[in-house]
Amino acid sequence: IASQFVPKHLLGKRVLVTAGPTVERIDPVRFLSNDSSGKMGVALAEAARDMGAYVTLVHGPLQIPIPDGVTALPVESSAEMLETVLAHFDDQHLVIKSAAVADYRPTTVHAEKHKKVHGPLTIELEETTDILKTLGMKKRDQILVGFAAETEQLETHARAKLEKKRVDYLVANHVATPGIGFGADENEVTLFRADGTVHRLPRQSKQELAHALLLQFKEAIR
Ligand code: CTP
Ligand code: CA
Repeated sequence: IASQFVPKHLLGKRVLVTAGPTVERIDPVRFLSNDSSGKMGVALAEAARDMGAYVTLVHGPLQIPIPDGVTALPVESSAEMLETVLAHFDDQHLVIKSAAVADYRPTTVHAEKHKKVHGPLTIELEETTDILKTLGMKKRDQILVGFAAETEQLETHARAKLEKKRVDYLVANHVATPGIGFGADENEVTLFRADGTVHRLPRQSKQELAHALLLQFKEAIR
């Protein structure tokens, strides 16, 4: 539906969305990343804007257009995403972490391109900071939403993440199912709430799903 007809359920609210993959540099021409397209996060940013929110979109490299009318803050690495999100966290009403943040990054980033004459290359990886968990520890009145990308035991893993990261909502998706999840235009998710209740959202376009999810999240905003 045209944006002017969308009910303004988030009028005047500040919503921060993270989207897309992060990029962890190995050297100036090589990096580690993942399959995230950013479509779900961008759909959420767009839907929140249409509901009247002031939207900040912190995003990794995207191959899809950034919606008009949102404040887009591009980042590369998980460290940059952490810094940018923290700088804008305090005055948000709702923070949705749909980005696929790298779990590991190279321990050292080489200043020059690695040359083959040096022989085989071993890349040592270290864990990145868990941005969502950091926000969960820091949050006051903000409503915090996490995503979970799972390929098996969805419910068990999702509930564990909900608790460990102290989020209000956890959106779980089966990323290995063809036609939904990473890169797809449609998605089908299970929404876990901090109070233990569960809500299944059937397969639909990421735009429709973004709208349906925001209708859930807005209930918790004070
Ligand atoms: N996340 C984050 N910072 C990280 C890793 C993940 O903020 N360094 C966030 C993601 O944006 C997502 C949520 O944590 O909202 C869950 O991400 P997911 O990859 O499903 O879980 P992990 O906790 O990273 O655990 P694992 O990948 O081992 O399943
Ligand atoms: Ca992860």
